[in-house]
Amino acid sequence: MNASLAGEVLWWLRQEDEGTLDSLRERADRTRARTVGEEVHLRGLLEFSNACERTCTYCGLRRPRRDLPRYHMTDREILGCADEAYRMGMGTLLLQSGEYRETPIESLVSTVRAIRQRTEMAIALSVGERSPLHYRALREAGADRYLLKFETSDAVLMDRIHPPRVNRTSNRLHLLMHLKRLGFEVASGIMVGIPGQTWASVARDILLFRALDLDMIAVGPYIPHPRTPLCSSPPASADQVPATACSCLKVIALSRLVRPDAHIPATRAMAVSVEKGYGSSLDWGADVVMVNLTPDPYRSLYDPYPGGDTPSADLDTVLEVIRHAGRIRGRGRGDRRFVTC
Ligand code: 5AD
Repeated sequence: MNASLAGEVLWWLRQEDEGTLDSLRERADRTRARTVGEEVHLRGLLEFSNACERTCTYCGLRRPRRDLPRYHMTDREILGCADEAYRMGMGTLLLQSGEYRETPIESLVSTVRAIRQRTEMAIALSVGERSPLHYRALREAGADRYLLKFETSDAVLMDRIHPPRVNRTSNRLHLLMHLKRLGFEVASGIMVGIPGQTWASVARDILLFRALDLDMIAVGPYIPHPRTPLCSSPPASADQVPATACSCLKVIALSRLVRPDAHIPATRAMAVSVEKGYGSSLDWGADVVMVNLTPDPYRSLYDPYPGGDTPSADLDTVLEVIRHAGRIRGRGRGDRRFVTC
């Protein structure tokens, strides 16, 4: 690790003076303008199933949660939404679900293949930890991108909030490197303000974004979910990262500075937890917004954190946010642009 860069990142993360932080925002915004430009790319998000077999202590989709009805959209429903996404002019369709291995991978592979044949949209997947063979099959079927957040690089904290499956280890960093080797554009990211997370560990996360050469970096605040065990966890150490918009904006800006040409979304968790969450993310270095295309009645059942089904992520709202930020709607797929920095 580059010690001076690590020190600088940590210094910024601990910074609380508004005027000083404004200079961080300006630097990130200038870098964003120079590398990825004024276009804000839209990613159509389809949450096609909320089934999950994991027991993550922060997430409302966790398997032990018995009060949440589970759904799986049919192939027909998914393809209908993909056509609609294409008609709406989305350059990317992101298919997201819990981690659920009982649905055969062949079914997802055939869905990806069908979407590939019908549209030119980039296909992004976020379906959790799978085997290398599954990842390969999905890539060969035509998937372009894969999103797998490592959430925190603190292995002890990660094991605590994301218990490994019985007799299996869980190493998301290895999986991300594997995905990269398969030719996926790879997205990852973290939650900010997890109970027990320190600024020093967030600084390591940010350096890891760079070491992994991530194509997209997603950063959102931890939002306590009342139906999860982590919600009632005791107050943490003095160096606890606050789960605030300000913490997230610092991380977004620093991510832009360490990975200047990466795509950085204004995340829904930001929009849910703070007013103008999308707009301020765009001001602090973000260049992508997710548009939620999940149809009713499923939308309200996709419940990793409270407030996720608010209409803040609808197309009209998002276009207004982009206009208000003085930016323009991106055209095309919004693939990675390699910019010499
Ligand atoms: N707060 C914020 N983000 C959450 N996620 C899940 N639960 C929460 C929460 N309580 C996000 C994580 C995860 C994705 C499924 O949703 O980043 O990767």
